[in-house]
Amino acid sequence: MRVLTIIPTYNELESLPVTLARLRAAVPAADVLVVDDNSPDGTGQLADDIASGDSQVHVLHRKGKEGLGAAYIAGFRWGLNAGYDVLVEMDADGSHQPEQLTLLLGAVEQGADLALGSRWVRGGSVVNWPLHRQAISRMGSTYARIMLGLKIKDVTGGYRAFRRSTLEKLNLDEVDSVGYGFQVDLAWRVAKLDLRIEERPITFVERELGSSKMSGSIVIEAMINVTKWGLAARWDKLARRTAKRPDAEPASSQGEYDRTDH
Ligand code: GDD
Ligand code: MN
Repeated sequence: MRVLTIIPTYNELESLPVTLARLRAAVPAADVLVVDDNSPDGTGQLADDIASGDSQVHVLHRKGKEGLGAAYIAGFRWGLNAGYDVLVEMDADGSHQPEQLTLLLGAVEQGADLALGSRWVRGGSVVNWPLHRQAISRMGSTYARIMLGLKIKDVTGGYRAFRRSTLEKLNLDEVDSVGYGFQVDLAWRVAKLDLRIEERPITFVERELGSSKMSGSIVIEAMINVTKWGLAARWDKLARRTAKRPDAEPASSQGEYDRTDH
């Protein structure tokens, strides 16, 4: 399996070199693509410097900050074009421990179409996350599970391994959510395709360097979208049921009514 780990960066000058070194040591066979949104702190230049000394590290430079989702979509396209079999999402700040990547790759090797690093399954955990972030994450996952009927426990997590064929089945052009919303969006699209999603417990370690780019508006966008998708799915289901009813389709009036009436 040819593996590409995609690392989006925006102002990760201090964290990126540490994470890259850990990743290259932990899974030497995996190639890396840093997707930098023209970070003002020079992260893109630093990535170029590292790439010039390591043929397995690549850099994709984007014009400006367009959000996590857009960066990943660009990275997926690059990786699919280059022929990789597995495409991994990993944060630059060390929260997704490179040493745990083998857990996700193992799941894909065993047949998963999407492997999710999960904080909210048995064995999963978070380290140094303030209580309010834990609460937002847990509540966000629970809300998305209920609204969308998802079986996975960590819906917003960003440590993931996609089998190539999974991404090929998604219409990446349609995806325009950012932040957490992007993660939920992709999980929801994969779930609707009835593909095999596997969660593996991870220890998410809050960053020690730099600062988070997630904002309140990203959380709100995610909530609104989940609500919209959930209602749309319920509406579709209802519409399909109504269409199947004998009174709506007199020509095929044999089935369900007879059975349930007697
Ligand atoms: N290229 C690019 N463009 N990268 C970005 C952007 C952007 O607009 N915004 C954020 N990033 C990068 C950061 O540089 C980092 O590598 C990664 O995306 C995650 O950003 P953080 O700011 O560290 O996110 P977090 O720690 O608050 O959120 C984590 O938890 C969320 C909830 O579970 C991440 O794992 C998210 O993916 C996850 O949804
Ligand atoms: Mn982070």
